[in-house]
Amino acid sequence: MKVLVIGPGGREHAIVRSLLADPNVSEVHAAPGNAGISKLVPTHAVDASDPDAVAALASRLTVDLVVVGPEAPLAAGVSDAVRAAGIPVFGPSMAAAQLEASKAFAKEVMAEAGVPTAMAKVAGNAEEAADALDTFGAPYVVKDDGLAAGKGVVVTNNRDEALAHAQSCFDAGGTVVIEEFLDGPEVSVFVLCDGRDTVALSPAQDFKRIFDNDEGPNTGGMGAYTPLDWAPEGLVQEVIDRVAQPTVNQMAHRGTPFVGVLFVGLALTSRGTRVIEFNVRFGDPETQAVLARLKTPLGGLLMAAAKGELDKVQPLRWSKESAVAVVVAAENYPGSPRTGDRIRGLKKVEAIEGVHVIHAGTKLDAEGKVVSAGGRVLAVVALGTDLVEARERAYDGVELVQLEGGQFRTDIGGKAARGEIKVTTPGAAPATTKAKA
Ligand code: AMP
Ligand code: GLY
Repeated sequence: MKVLVIGPGGREHAIVRSLLADPNVSEVHAAPGNAGISKLVPTHAVDASDPDAVAALASRLTVDLVVVGPEAPLAAGVSDAVRAAGIPVFGPSMAAAQLEASKAFAKEVMAEAGVPTAMAKVAGNAEEAADALDTFGAPYVVKDDGLAAGKGVVVTNNRDEALAHAQSCFDAGGTVVIEEFLDGPEVSVFVLCDGRDTVALSPAQDFKRIFDNDEGPNTGGMGAYTPLDWAPEGLVQEVIDRVAQPTVNQMAHRGTPFVGVLFVGLALTSRGTRVIEFNVRFGDPETQAVLARLKTPLGGLLMAAAKGELDKVQPLRWSKESAVAVVVAAENYPGSPRTGDRIRGLKKVEAIEGVHVIHAGTKLDAEGKVVSAGGRVLAVVALGTDLVEARERAYDGVELVQLEGGQFRTDIGGKAARGEIKVTTPGAAPATTKAKA
């Protein structure tokens, strides 16, 4: 099987790496890729969000499958163009990608499908925004309705700040979704969908804020770990039964079947499991950790989803180890990041047992040296017999990365490793983490 992976980031590097480990995958190409991806497979300088260009490349390379990584190409209709060229594609159509591209649309589908989520109001002007904020009270949650690379959400106790964020979205010609605040730990579950059937991957936890202890502004994600020893038993089944399958059924019923990965962002609140958001692609950096543990060959799995054959897939096989991904970001991220700096030490990082480096915002300079080229520069991914060991290895690796101004969180997976995460979800037995020495 020949596969083309679309996208430039860490998620795509992790996907390429896993595809190369699939014995049935003979060749992988990527577009546009990054410095890490280009060391593994041929890369092609194509605009990932240009549907015709991507379809033409896929046809020219005579690939058997196209995997679309990021949300922007999906929202731009890249999957539709590839499908129209007669090539199987893992990734939803432009219409189905609205589940991520419009938070208001996602809320509408969730309501139709009876999916538990935060109560929400759509606001188009300052008066409506103020009204919605006062309906739900503090803490205030204000979301840009459109795609914002994980940075369009403001959660604050300050009403003026909430109003100002809403106003900035209105000024840019958009609308906002204002919703009730959800308490409790957050979980990311990736559900493979073939338009009809669903297969869930092992849950992960992401760290959205830039600084330790969940302080500072939201980012695309600063680290992740998996599996979640503390999650209530039955969580994955609940996500399938109450969230993913009803959503997939509703999308099929609407005539816009969902093919690809439905990324269910959940809060395990004191009142039950609630959907915080849908995304229509793998999470970044959760994918880096999740795929590190997946033993079932990835190519066959994604092809089955693309072809409507997930019902034929055997139960997924997972490593018993824990995986941690720690992101190293550029100075000033999530503001406009400093770029163009040399990155050194990566060979030493990869010499640590169980550790590999996944590139995100990197490129090769004129001399062929790896330099930073984006906000999230790379992730150090480590496997270990438990979360404690995986964290140790990941942070040993991070300490060896040399990047001027580089920043990372020191607490990825820390609370879980110390047994400090508590869930009080009604219906599920209260669970706490078991600290592993
Ligand atoms: P989203 O882009 O919708 O995933 O939101 C980004 C982040 O904002 C989430 O991962 C949460 O940490 C936070 N967030 C979003 N919606 C809510 C909510 N209703 N209550 C509490 N936190 C939220
Ligand atoms: N890490 C969260 C996301 O990919 O949106």
